[in-house]
Amino acid sequence: MEQPRDQWATKLGLILAMAGNAIGLGNFWRFPYQAAKFGGGAFMIPYFAALFLLGIPVMWIEWVEGRYGGKYGHGTLGPTFYLMARESVKPKTAVIFGMIGGMLAFSVTSLLNGYYLHIVGWSAAYTYFSATGAYMNATSTYDFFVSYIKNTPQVLVFWAISVGLLGIAVAQGVSKGIERWVKVMMPLLYVAAILLVIRSLTLGSPVKPEWSSIKGFEYLWEPRFSDVTWESALAAAGQIFFTLSLGMGIIQNYASYLGPEDDVALSGLATVSLNEFAEVILGGSIAIPIAFAYLGEEGIKAGVGLAYLALPNVFMNMVGGRFFGAVWFLLLWFAGFTSAIAMYNYLTALLEEDLKINRRVGSAIIFVLYFIIGLPIALDKTLLLLTDLDMWVGSYLLVVLGLFDIIVGVWLFKPENFWEELHKGAYIKLPKWIMPIIKYIAPAYVLVLLGKNTADYLTNGTITMSQKYLEYLVNEEALISTTVEYARKIVMESRAIIIFVLIIGALEAYMAIKKKYGEELEKNEVIIRV
Ligand code: ALA
Repeated sequence: MEQPRDQWATKLGLILAMAGNAIGLGNFWRFPYQAAKFGGGAFMIPYFAALFLLGIPVMWIEWVEGRYGGKYGHGTLGPTFYLMARESVKPKTAVIFGMIGGMLAFSVTSLLNGYYLHIVGWSAAYTYFSATGAYMNATSTYDFFVSYIKNTPQVLVFWAISVGLLGIAVAQGVSKGIERWVKVMMPLLYVAAILLVIRSLTLGSPVKPEWSSIKGFEYLWEPRFSDVTWESALAAAGQIFFTLSLGMGIIQNYASYLGPEDDVALSGLATVSLNEFAEVILGGSIAIPIAFAYLGEEGIKAGVGLAYLALPNVFMNMVGGRFFGAVWFLLLWFAGFTSAIAMYNYLTALLEEDLKINRRVGSAIIFVLYFIIGLPIALDKTLLLLTDLDMWVGSYLLVVLGLFDIIVGVWLFKPENFWEELHKGAYIKLPKWIMPIIKYIAPAYVLVLLGKNTADYLTNGTITMSQKYLEYLVNEEALISTTVEYARKIVMESRAIIIFVLIIGALEAYMAIKKKYGEELEKNEVIIRV
């Protein structure tokens, strides 16, 4: 007999798990460098616009989708999209939407986590390096980082410790594993963040009188409407997707472990609020103000390297730097871990539900899968592969999946059904004027975003990694004989990996739908309803 589906044991556990899912490296590593890169206060204007017009609506849609799929025993997007789409179209057409959803979610959870887990591993390594003072006397934090990245066995050890722990947590199940782990990790994450915020606020001007953490705050919070550009608007919307874990399939996966009458309206809002508190209040008060106090405005523009290249420079010179460095990297590790666990669980659920593979075995298989995907990324010392995958998967595929969330979860499922589902068991009643935002403004926003993104890629090419880091590598030694040639090779490799994974994802979703709803597909009519 089939086991009953696991469910969250407590409301607190669910909220912390969802918060952990959303709060990740995106909040503490990605947000500060994106905000610094796109003009601080000029970035925050489109950021808040995207939060209200896109972030909150898509969050509700994904909660509704997840709980709906869970009612039928699914925690993956293939069957969930199929079930929702068949409210408007025949099963033979609905299966196409199922395949698109399954394909995108599979790709994001395998590829995004493929490189995300490396950054989680770096965070573990840097926690250790900070605590032991390993980089305190380094002549350059660039040298230190590069020598770490080049030491593949060392990179893999910290990666394996992190991913091994993830595998154990996921193997234990949702209520007995993930929920228990996040109940410990999330409070620790908040404590670590608050400690760092206090340190940041009490720094004063340690290097130059015109540099201070307060200046860093001003840079972030002084609205500069005239500096808002297309680029900053795109980056801000991309950040909203990334930070809220939207367009990945993992909010739906966690929501699928709800009961059919459990609230989604207030819980979705709570997830957004907890994430935004962690991002703009805590995340915004750590890296930028601290880096500004020690390195000035130039220093905060270190790009992707802000957390791992610039901040170690600061900890080297700060009183108590070893301690605060360790707290900072541990914070990154907790944040990354509790998001990576959701992606890990998505794939484990896929094996468990679609292929009936026992959760423990499934979790071990996913460990091996991540090792295979992660190995080329670990071996590429230039980080080009990581950067290219991040651009396509972390910014592009998420938004495409977000668009299909709206098409399937609202339009094909039918707006009136969506509204009813959103309010089933809800703790709050939402005002009706929200519906036009969900129905029209959010998809229009996503379409503009995708159109502009595509145009930018076509004109600017695809390599957008930190120029400074690449130049550094090229100058440092003949690691890359011809940079352009090398970059081209990596980009081709990355495209091939993405296409391969997309195909596997689509086929898997088709098989999963056919297995359970084969008769519906054959007769082309809806038979199974719960
Ligand atoms: N939402 C997760 C993050 O911010 C993926 O890192």
